[in-house]
Amino acid sequence: MRILFLSSEAVPFVKTGGLADVAGALPRVLQQMGHDVRLVIPRYGDIDPRFRLLPLMPEIKVRWGEEYLTGSVLRCDYPGSRMPVYFIDEPSFSWRKGIYGTGKSDFADNDRRFAFFSMAALWLVKGLDWQPDVIHANDWQTGLVPALLKHHHEIARDPFFSNVKSVFAIHNMAYQGNVDKFVVPQIGLPWDVFTQDGMEFYGRASYLKAGIAYADAVVTVSPTYAQEIQHEEMGAGMHGTLSHRAPDLHGILNGIDTTEWNPETDPTLPARFAEPTLQGKANCKAELQKLCGLPVDPKIPVIGMASRLVAQKGFKLIADALDELLALDAQFVILGTGDEEFEKAFTEAGEAHPTRLHMRLAYDVPFSHRLIAGSDIFLMPSLFEPCGLTQLYSMRYGTVPVVRHTGGLADSVTAYPAEGATGFSFEEPTSEALVAALKSALDVYTKNPAAWDKLRREGMRRDWSWGAAAASYIDLYKGIAAKS
Ligand code: ADP
Ligand code: GLC
Repeated sequence: MRILFLSSEAVPFVKTGGLADVAGALPRVLQQMGHDVRLVIPRYGDIDPRFRLLPLMPEIKVRWGEEYLTGSVLRCDYPGSRMPVYFIDEPSFSWRKGIYGTGKSDFADNDRRFAFFSMAALWLVKGLDWQPDVIHANDWQTGLVPALLKHHHEIARDPFFSNVKSVFAIHNMAYQGNVDKFVVPQIGLPWDVFTQDGMEFYGRASYLKAGIAYADAVVTVSPTYAQEIQHEEMGAGMHGTLSHRAPDLHGILNGIDTTEWNPETDPTLPARFAEPTLQGKANCKAELQKLCGLPVDPKIPVIGMASRLVAQKGFKLIADALDELLALDAQFVILGTGDEEFEKAFTEAGEAHPTRLHMRLAYDVPFSHRLIAGSDIFLMPSLFEPCGLTQLYSMRYGTVPVVRHTGGLADSVTAYPAEGATGFSFEEPTSEALVAALKSALDVYTKNPAAWDKLRREGMRRDWSWGAAAASYIDLYKGIAAKS
């Protein structure tokens, strides 16, 4: 099949979160299965010049109301493969620093930037005369694509696009791209799309809702999250639209890149390890403790977190229980950046308790590997979690996750003491429930080394690779491509 994958971020070019991991891995796996897959991302100013991008289309024009926006397209092969990656360039991408915004606020012209990106991606494939069977669009930044294919005054009437189907993947309902309704005619969409069944959302135009309403199939990144978002508490205001689309709504659990995340070969680690001995993991722990200025002691459990410091990830539950947590016989290592309130609270706590908590306020990929390898426990008390990748990385690295039972965490972590357990979980989104779960984990860690060892090995033995998910995506693409 010919599959066009659209994303606003992808490793190794640009990343803020898990979407980049998915966009950097899934298309290549699909390509290795024998499909013709191409990836399109924006050409941000932050992309490292070591990726030598070659000009492909010197000029690409997109109608924006009465005017034309002009950009260009560059390309390269995905590093280590032959998969083409196209970069949509426009001054609002390449002439500034930042992806969605700088520091604390989003760019004011994100509506126009991502409308340009979405439309230019479509004109690009037409220009190349490469007709995709399916366009796989991700998150609100590309949510317009399904609406453009069905309703745009030129695209929807163009025979080139008449058989092109769309899949819209939701990685997070919390980011919706809700903008002023006056973009609707600017984009070239009719006001007919501005209804409750379409992209209207509380008087604004929602790019996320456009994707949900008009895609041939909607996917989210775990089966549990696919159910949760159809209910008011988790639907971020769109549960009605989502339940309306229930027959076409699928939950496919993400995989991970098992080459990049492999404890046996990981070049960022001070020592490598594998089953059955796990020899080397203890060294990773000692080095992590040293690096973080914590007492180096193999007996003290290290609890790690690597995450955006935002409410979604449950940092409020941790902040509220900080005194109790710091009184535990354990060490905490937190890596992340995000909301000022959390950055401040955890930095101060780290300064006050340097033998108990190390807060590393940074975006640091090599350190994230060392943290995941060197910790005993990985804590992820998310309020909601569409999939979550770091708990998967942790299990692959013999680090036992303690998670809240939600979304992809519920679908990937089997909670102790069940048969085949790989971690611990709790239900209620409260500090009390979090502390209780963590205490149960620490109890097994200190009192029952054999059970702990089993937990680690179970997680390491599971297959977290993309194989199963990629096969499900192909089934889905084939299903919609077969429909007229
Ligand atoms: P989300 O996409 O909601 O942020 P995921 O668990 O799906 O959550 O993916 C997060 C990704 O971002 C993981 O690859 C994780 O290692 C990475 N990450 C998050 N914060 C940092 C950080 N401060 N430094 C390095 N990597 C980070
Ligand atoms: C989002 C979600 C996360 C998911 C990632 C990749 O950012 O918050 O749970 O793992 O996308 O799908």
